[in-house]
Amino acid sequence: MAINTTATPLIDAPRGLAGVVVTETEIGDVRGREGFYHYRQYSAVELARTRGFEDVWHLLVHGTLPDAERRAAFNAETAALRRLPEEVRSALPAIAAASRVPGPLSGLRTALSLLGSARGLRPVYDIDADRRRADTLAVCAAVPTLLTALYRLGQGLHPVEPRDDLPYAANYLYMLTGEEPEPRRARAVEQYLISTIDHGFNASTFTARVIASTGADVAACLVGAVGALSGPLHGGAPSRALDTLDAIGTPDRIDPWIRERVLAGDRIMGFGHAVYRTEDPRSRMLREIAQSFGGPRVDFAVEVERRVEAILAELKPGRELHTNVEFHAGVVMELCGLPREMFTPTFAAARVVGWSANILEQAADSKIIRPVARYVGPTPPVAVPAAL
Ligand SMILES: CC(C)(COP(=O)(O)OP(=O)(O)OC[C@H]1O[C@@H](n2cnc3c(N)ncnc32)[C@H](O)[C@@H]1OP(=O)(O)O)[C@@H](O)C(=O)NCCC(=O)NCCS
Repeated sequence: MAINTTATPLIDAPRGLAGVVVTETEIGDVRGREGFYHYRQYSAVELARTRGFEDVWHLLVHGTLPDAERRAAFNAETAALRRLPEEVRSALPAIAAASRVPGPLSGLRTALSLLGSARGLRPVYDIDADRRRADTLAVCAAVPTLLTALYRLGQGLHPVEPRDDLPYAANYLYMLTGEEPEPRRARAVEQYLISTIDHGFNASTFTARVIASTGADVAACLVGAVGALSGPLHGGAPSRALDTLDAIGTPDRIDPWIRERVLAGDRIMGFGHAVYRTEDPRSRMLREIAQSFGGPRVDFAVEVERRVEAILAELKPGRELHTNVEFHAGVVMELCGLPREMFTPTFAAARVVGWSANILEQAADSKIIRPVARYVGPTPPVAVPAAL
């Protein structure tokens, strides 16, 4: 029997807070049964098909899509923030050299923290809405610069300075490779990034909001969110879906490989979703993008998708298991020349914008998020034993 130490009655929430409404939001939502998700009042997939990344970023943090004049101003404002302060730039080689894990996501946490203090970010509690928004732009705009620099340093290469004249996605690819990307590759990555900006009240978004509710600065909120995203149950690993394609190898091996895994109780990476019971709308768009590139890898992926869905429908009837965002995202990123260890970091380069919108919304509400846990240990107070 728990002792109620709070002034309010205790309510038991389900495990994982599943189905618990904890706040209201105007940022967006996911309708799992309909296979639909939206940013503000617009279909996210339609935005990805028709708009540039910066337009959707503007929509998320300002609440409206920009007109031509606002677009030019916002693009210039964010492009100017891509360059890193010298204190951060000079620290990156040490951060990259200290890392013993693949990919730059853990280095991003360290670098973001440093960027926040180097830019003098103050607690959101102490600043007005305009200053908070400016802080989110300053941090988000620098994320691709940090990620690509950390990646290149890890490969023994020099970082590539950002270019102000390229859009967000094209500049990201440029900083990664040192070469201006082919327009259709830049656009494919841009569409992936837009489709990944936000996706309901997921664990990293909730984390960002919990930290924002304490009044901490924007960088602190984003560092926590990156930490949450890095967990395998969340940030996923689009690279794991590609590993599956590699492991199957050839079309004749699809059926036996998949059947054996599913009958052994394994999960096939890139299939199933906690919310969607229909096809994941992101998956549909990414498949179309992959097919616009064409080639044997894409044909094989589409064949694997078709066969796996059929086998899962047979072996797991009624579960409605379809491809999720990870499956074709991996294929698209591979086609665009992104190395596998940059897949989850690329996800983070988009999601920072969604986290930022959530931080701004949360910061406008001064109520701290502070649930309670039911204590189930030995009944206190037990006398503290004398030290031996
Ligand atoms: C995404 C995921 C965690 C969602 O889980 P969930 O909605 O909680 O699904 P459940 O755990 O309720 O699973 C329902 C049933 O479908 C099965 N199932 C779910 N995803 C499966 C998959 N990818 N392959 C094979 N079987 C799967 C489960 O084993 C379960 O079967 P059971 O009822 O016989 O036990 C799960 O589908 C999964 O692990 N997918 C693979 C990993 C992946 O692609 N992650 C990226 C997500 S964006």
